[in-house]
Amino acid sequence: MMSLLKQEHGDVERVLSGLSRRAAWSGGPPIANVLMAKALAQPDLISLAAGFVEHQSLPVELVEKAIEKLFSSRATALESLQYGTTLGHPRLRRALWDRVSQAEAAVGLRHAGPEQIVITAGSNQLLYLVAEALLDPGDIVLCATPSYFVFLGMIKSFGARTVGVASDRDGMIPEALEDRLAWLERRGELERVKAIYVASYFDNPTGLSLGPERRPALLEVAQRWSRKHRLYIIEDCAYRDLSYYEEEWPSIRSYDVTGQHVVMVGSFSKSFSPGLRVGWGLLPPALLDPVLVLKGHHDFGSPNFNQMVMATILEEGWLEEHVARLRSIYRRKLETTLKAVEGMLRPVVAVKYVPPRGGLYVWLQLPEEWDTGVEGPLFQAAVEDGVVYVPGEYCFPEEGEPTLRCCLRLSFAMPDDINLEKGMERLARAITRCGSAAPR
Ligand SMILES: Cc1ncc(COP(=O)(O)O)c(C=O)c1O
Repeated sequence: MMSLLKQEHGDVERVLSGLSRRAAWSGGPPIANVLMAKALAQPDLISLAAGFVEHQSLPVELVEKAIEKLFSSRATALESLQYGTTLGHPRLRRALWDRVSQAEAAVGLRHAGPEQIVITAGSNQLLYLVAEALLDPGDIVLCATPSYFVFLGMIKSFGARTVGVASDRDGMIPEALEDRLAWLERRGELERVKAIYVASYFDNPTGLSLGPERRPALLEVAQRWSRKHRLYIIEDCAYRDLSYYEEEWPSIRSYDVTGQHVVMVGSFSKSFSPGLRVGWGLLPPALLDPVLVLKGHHDFGSPNFNQMVMATILEEGWLEEHVARLRSIYRRKLETTLKAVEGMLRPVVAVKYVPPRGGLYVWLQLPEEWDTGVEGPLFQAAVEDGVVYVPGEYCFPEEGEPTLRCCLRLSFAMPDDINLEKGMERLARAITRCGSAAPR
């Protein structure tokens, strides 16, 4: 009753302010802003929260070389400063296609080509455009539990719903996807389901990958349940390059022999530079035009200059050089984090986790009675001790699976080695303090 009153009051306020329903669905400031505000207010705070990449390893020299090369010809320099196309620069799309198809050599990519690649300002924009093309208010996206919280918020901003599908150490469970679809069918809601969202490599927030046999299995379920309309799989590959132990599994897209079901999404943010804001999608034909029309409304094309820089980096083979360096840096940081979890956290709390083999995150589950939320005692104690993490509760879809309040996400990329250890020590101290004062 209270929350209904609050909602109605919020609605009156919105109408009086002349704001749209979309603005209201978008909710308050994202958690990233809340954490950022805390970090700014306390400069010695160590952030194990931000999904940033390591600052010192950003590719300054490689970008410098690429710009020099680009500007060594007046014609390309002028081209890079001009408007481009909505689809994206052909040189970048070609270079990307060569790289992606090479990575998929084991199974191959059928019904695909550079003409289906759309370049966006970061992969977040691609996710947004696909959601915009697919979703009406009340529609449903099925998501792995837990999932990338920015994506969850984005879906909500369309007035659409996120419904969780049970996942384990190998990602979304195909049988659970089937059960969830059957459950929605019984409720008469099957037609509202538009897409299934999975980050298939070293995902955010768990750092875990979708198991190799689950890739074709999820696709098979999506195809079989595409009854009145097509059910898309949005395969987010943002962390694909950040593999630290030589594993290379074919994407879900590679099993999609008709090329109709899977939207493959990629990014150079984690493997090169988030500041360049270059992301991409390999789209099924039916989505290509709608996404391009919507993108035209947003921007008439992503920054041409950045795309030409990125194309040069790819063509010269400099991306592989950089990724190799990043892999050894992040592998060391991952191992430092896991060592600290074992050596510092485990002695003070019965923490559960699955060691990731790539990516930028470690997902911890504390005993059930702990509350890791922003208003909870652990988060407050952690801030007092000078460290922040992402509370796990943000990473759960709104419906379907239960929200666990006892989880947290650690990002190990941004702090240097000294601060990473210091941050883990601070977290252990906060946990010890809360543990002795009863966590709830
Ligand atoms: C799983 C996942 N997908 C997509 C993105 C978006 O990244 P960008 O827009 O920088 O490509 C992120 C960023 O953290 C992410 O974690």
